[in-house]
Amino acid sequence: MNILGIETSCDETAAAVVKDGGEVLSNVVYTQIPIHQPYGGVVPELASRAHVEKIREVIGAAMAGQKVDAVAVTYGPGLSPALLVGLNAAKGLARALRVPLFAINHIEAHLHTPFLFDSGSSPVPPPDSDTEYLGLAISGGHTNWIRMRRYGEYETIGQTLDDAAGEAFDKASKLLGLGYPGGPVLDKIAREYGIQNLISFPKGRPREGVSALSGLRADLCVSFSGLKTALLRYVQTHPDLNVPQVVASYQEAIVQAVADRTRTALRQGNYRALILGGGVSLNSRLRQVLGQLCATEKVELLMAKPKYCGDNGAMIAALAYYRRNLSGPAAMHVDATPSLEIG
Ligand code: KG4
Ligand code: ZN
Repeated sequence: MNILGIETSCDETAAAVVKDGGEVLSNVVYTQIPIHQPYGGVVPELASRAHVEKIREVIGAAMAGQKVDAVAVTYGPGLSPALLVGLNAAKGLARALRVPLFAINHIEAHLHTPFLFDSGSSPVPPPDSDTEYLGLAISGGHTNWIRMRRYGEYETIGQTLDDAAGEAFDKASKLLGLGYPGGPVLDKIAREYGIQNLISFPKGRPREGVSALSGLRADLCVSFSGLKTALLRYVQTHPDLNVPQVVASYQEAIVQAVADRTRTALRQGNYRALILGGGVSLNSRLRQVLGQLCATEKVELLMAKPKYCGDNGAMIAALAYYRRNLSGPAAMHVDATPSLEIG
């Protein structure tokens, strides 16, 4: 079954055709990063205008020469005016083609990215429906640890209480005047600096009993607000700043916080694999540290190819094959849901 996936939740206009939930037949991503760069972050009105301008072209390019049996689209979480552009396009197209429409959760889709493979390359085995997976969705908007007792059954067991990891990267980059998006810039600077001689920054451990935990365990959650404040204070009190040292130390604090919570989560379940998804999963130090952690804990680390780590339509199309619950008339009436939850 070939599914066309459409994604417009943030600053990428994307569409792809995926066969049977894994084989990517086409994948087109138009990134708006240059549009938002001068503002140091995504401007929702500019994002939706750019989606409107590009969506036809992107979908047309993804569909060229492909048979399409169904359409899938992100309905949340994300920016409302941006989500609406994709939703409206998808509804219109499904109607015109007389094929089913599937409405997909963006975060769940990030967790499906390790199962994507390019047409003509060696196939990746599909998820095993009887295996218990730990999912780590780590992006500009989310940092969630998700228990899947079976593939597709989601329970959030840990999360950030404030900023997402990607947001923590982006805000630090803005503070240090290093540009947008911050993640890739900080990653490169930190990689060149190394992990020697680091400044000690808070490792994002929330206090037990704070109300923001809303029932979750503190040792499975992170909070990056203290880290952000510590960075600001450090910058204000050190006029002769060693920027690479600060960046490497800040990144290490995020990576160690994430790795620590992941270790705790892994030890609490009967997990066979850790599934890593979302833009921050591109971070080279995070990949290295989680790789070592998984080797020690004897679980498999499932990560996407770099081109599928950021937002794309292939993950939406692929997940739709497995999650066909919100389809047909139900999907036709679904609304953009900016704060859609997972689990
Ligand atoms: O998944 P994504 O493309 O969009 C959302 O759903 O949010 O993630 C974007 C986020 C941004 O915050 C960006 O700074 C971060 O992913 N990011 C990285 C790296 N590449 C992208 N963070 C750390 N290291 C990277 N190499
Ligand atoms: Zn995303």
